[in-house]
Amino acid sequence: MKINPLLDIVYPQSFLGEDEMANEQTLSIIKPDAVFTNHIGEILIRFEKSGLKIVAAKMVHFSQEQARAFYSVHAHRPFFQELVSFMISGPVLALVLEGENAVAKNRQLMGATNPKDANPGTIRADFAKTIEKNAIHGSDSLETAAKEIRFFFKAQEIFSR
Ligand code: CMP
Repeated sequence: MKINPLLDIVYPQSFLGEDEMANEQTLSIIKPDAVFTNHIGEILIRFEKSGLKIVAAKMVHFSQEQARAFYSVHAHRPFFQELVSFMISGPVLALVLEGENAVAKNRQLMGATNPKDANPGTIRADFAKTIEKNAIHGSDSLETAAKEIRFFFKAQEIFSR
């Protein structure tokens, strides 16, 4: 059974069979620090090795306005302006990842927001330097994923398979 956030079709967990896992889509952003240090390929390999599929990809250099809009939920936080400045400091790679429990699986692969707290072997433990320059972003829920995917991609730019 499929959950397609782009179509706003969300099947409650109870609709899934006992042994059936939710097939989901989530948004990932490889941030300017990881692009700059040339770690795009190593990060993509981790997604694919985990069983997630890359069903959309786009390199983008955020404008100030776009970065502020993407992170608008953090607008009241003291680090907001620094976060925006960092996110416009270079290009990012936006991705849609698809697979069983993609939201949770992606967050597990990323590790904790602060690389100092990230489990060994996670993307942030291996490639991030600080809580701000933390290599990667991933949607925190299916609902957020639907919004964040729409922020970057049109339906026809996503190749679900
Ligand atoms: P991300 O997963 O992209 O979501 C919001 C980002 O804000 C987060 O990763 C961090 O890069 C950044 N962030 C969160 N907390 C702090 C903080 N205390 N100081 C600086 N940046 C932060």
